[in-house]
Amino acid sequence: MRVILLGPPGAGKGTQAVKIAKEFNIPHISTGDIFRQNLRDNTDLGKLAKEYMDKGLLVPDEVTNRIVEDRLEKEDCKKGFLLDGYPRNVSQAEELDRFLEKQGNSLNCVLNIEVDRDVLIERITGRRICPNCGATYHIKNSPPAVDNVCDKCGTQLIQRSDDKIESVLKRLEVYDSQTKPLIEYYTRKKILINIDGNKSVEEVFESIKRSLGDDS
Ligand code: AP5
Ligand code: ZN
Repeated sequence: MRVILLGPPGAGKGTQAVKIAKEFNIPHISTGDIFRQNLRDNTDLGKLAKEYMDKGLLVPDEVTNRIVEDRLEKEDCKKGFLLDGYPRNVSQAEELDRFLEKQGNSLNCVLNIEVDRDVLIERITGRRICPNCGATYHIKNSPPAVDNVCDKCGTQLIQRSDDKIESVLKRLEVYDSQTKPLIEYYTRKKILINIDGNKSVEEVFESIKRSLGDDS
């Protein structure tokens, strides 16, 4: 199963991706997570990505495409994959199509998670992440058992540096101008499925499972 998760910042892509990857036993590939991991490891890629991420801008396509293609060539992607946060503009989508075509593959579906704008802002501003293991929480919707401490590894939670309101507004603007056109791109290819992402994490996951079906 080769699936893309599409949706604006804060739609719940990362939250759902973790559940889908586990349920369907496919690797979860998040370009945002890859950049953040590189930032934690203080690599050149991490330093480059931070300059764009903190401003709410997209990391250049050449860099992002290369990272994704290197990852998709790994053995574990032969059984399928779940892409979260990629592609993010038409040029990346075209490059992904070319890459998969060369492998003799194509996408099965694109899940487009739709969420109202005020809900997005509330989700992003309430998000807290673990700087050690990358786990995501929300101060109201999915708080950790102990205030501000990661359930999984005991580390103090932080706010993502691109979750400040100025960066968030820019990310939403970039989504509208560059990522939203992908809805039409994949609708034309007849592989887009809209998911109502305003509901609870479990309800959204149930509708995703129904859409993917047991045999996809
Ligand atoms: P990335 O990390 O991909 O960020 P994003 O797309 O802006 O998405 P978010 O991580 O903000 O949100 P999400 O949809 O995953 O929501 P989440 O599950 O966390 O990218 C960051 C940056 O990296 C980009 O701005 C860009 O600079 C760069 N980048 C990444 N990919 C790139 C690419 N392809 N090309 C170029 N540059 C790229 O949920 C949000 C919050 O809500 C959480 O607190 C969660 O607990 C809560 N929540 C989730 N679902 C629900 C629910 N159903 N009900 C209640 N609360 C919920
Ligand atoms: Zn942790």
